[in-house]
Amino acid sequence: MSELRHSLDSVLLETHVLQDTDPDLDRLLVDGFAVVGESWGAELRLDSVAQVDEAVDALRERVAAAEQAGLAVRELHPADAAAIAALDAASWADVPSTPATTHSPTTEAEARAWAGRGRRGFGAFDGDRLVGLCVGAGGDNDFIVVAATHRGRGLGAAVVAAWMLAAIEAGERAFTVGGAAENVRSLALVRSVGFRVTERWLSLQRP
Ligand SMILES: CC(C)(COP(=O)(O)OP(=O)(O)OC[C@H]1O[C@@H](n2cnc3c(N)ncnc32)[C@H](O)[C@@H]1OP(=O)(O)O)[C@@H](O)C(=O)NCCC(=O)NCCS
Repeated sequence: MSELRHSLDSVLLETHVLQDTDPDLDRLLVDGFAVVGESWGAELRLDSVAQVDEAVDALRERVAAAEQAGLAVRELHPADAAAIAALDAASWADVPSTPATTHSPTTEAEARAWAGRGRRGFGAFDGDRLVGLCVGAGGDNDFIVVAATHRGRGLGAAVVAAWMLAAIEAGERAFTVGGAAENVRSLALVRSVGFRVTERWLSLQRP
């Protein structure tokens, strides 16, 4: 219900999303808008061969740790679409969001269309069950999700690492990701694989 309320608010209320450095911020606050959400943008740039080598070694370790724990990590394909939709639908109930960082659960049709839209997804499997995934286009991360039953065991880091390794192999050298400030575990995850926060965003609406 609160998710529905949040979505309706985002559609019905005049919403401004600006960086905390934006000169319009003061004017909006004076005009009666209030900050209703904070979010961040983070990036990771690999500017030299040495940085690429170091990142690849660290990312491979993240994948290897999950594999040693008995999980299989691999690229996702259209045949995984039902599992992707099921994992995504089941895993966002407790995730903080802002008007700038809402997440609509992925449908099977959307997951099947990922490849055609330049997206690559990587998943972690516990036996036959998909329990974590990371998807993005080039170096731009769309989202990361791990089943509530499997969090805190390094799977989020493993699927992000698998996605980044494939992108690096394809020539990508700059990565971006974003999330809600309240979502501390998401920020902890991306920092743990080398991202640093470069932007802070505020969402404003009239109370
Ligand atoms: C965010 C999410 C993907 C993390 O997955 P996870 O498998 O639990 O994360 P990991 O176990 O790989 O942890 C990665 C790092 O984050 C840290 N971390 C994970 N959960 C944390 C928490 N609740 N509080 C603080 N730090 C946390 C870990 O300590 C680890 O850091 P380290 O490698 O330096 O030790 C998972 O919590 C999730 O699916 N949440 C719901 C969806 C979501 O919020 N997605 C992110 C938006 S894109």
